[in-house]
Amino acid sequence: MATAESTSPRMMSAAAARQSAAPGIQVAAPSRREFLYYIWGASIALLLGEASAGLIWFAFPRFKEGEFGGTFAFNPEELPAVGAAPTSVPAGRFHVTLTPEGLRALYGVCTHLGCLPKWVPTNNRFECPCHGSKFHLSGNWIEGPAPRNLDLFIARVTFADGTTLETPADGGAIPLDPNRQITSIQIDTGARIIGALH
Ligand code: FES
Repeated sequence: MATAESTSPRMMSAAAARQSAAPGIQVAAPSRREFLYYIWGASIALLLGEASAGLIWFAFPRFKEGEFGGTFAFNPEELPAVGAAPTSVPAGRFHVTLTPEGLRALYGVCTHLGCLPKWVPTNNRFECPCHGSKFHLSGNWIEGPAPRNLDLFIARVTFADGTTLETPADGGAIPLDPNRQITSIQIDTGARIIGALH
C-alpha cells in the first residue's frame, strides 16, 4: 500500500500533465515586473500623445473667419477712395487704406507701446493718443517715439478675371487698376508684416 509521502508527488505530476494536455489556451498572469513595465509604457505613450497634440495645436492654430487671428472678408464696395480716410474694421484691428500706390491693410496698433492710433481727418494722418506718434495714410512714420512704420496684414485681392494679388513681403501696397473689377478682398490677420524701421 502506498504511503501519502510516496503517492502525492506522483498524483500532482499526473494532474499537471492532464492540465497541460487539456484543450484551450491558458493565459499566465503577468508578473509584478511585467505589470509595472506595461503601466510605465502606457504612461509614456499617453504623455507623448498629449505633447504631440499640443504641439500641433499651437503650430496650426485655428481661427474662425471674421475672428481676429483669422481671415476677414472685406467688402470691395467699402474700399475708400484714393487718399481718403481709411475704412476701419475694429473686430480685425486693421484699417484698409488706399493711396496712389495701392491698397494696404494696416494693423491698428502703435509700433511704440501698443496704443491705438486714430485717424484724424483734419490732419490727414494717424495720431497716437499716448505719446504722439504720427503716421501717414500709408502707415509710414512721420514723427514721435514709434521706432517704425505701422505693421501690415497680408491682403489678397481677387479680380474678375480670376487673378489674385497679394501684399508684397516688403510691406508695399497692392496696386489697383480702376479698370479691373475686384470680386473679393481677404485680410489675413494671422499674417503680419513688421513695419520698416525709420
Ligand atoms: S504708444 Fe503710440 S506713441 Fe507711444
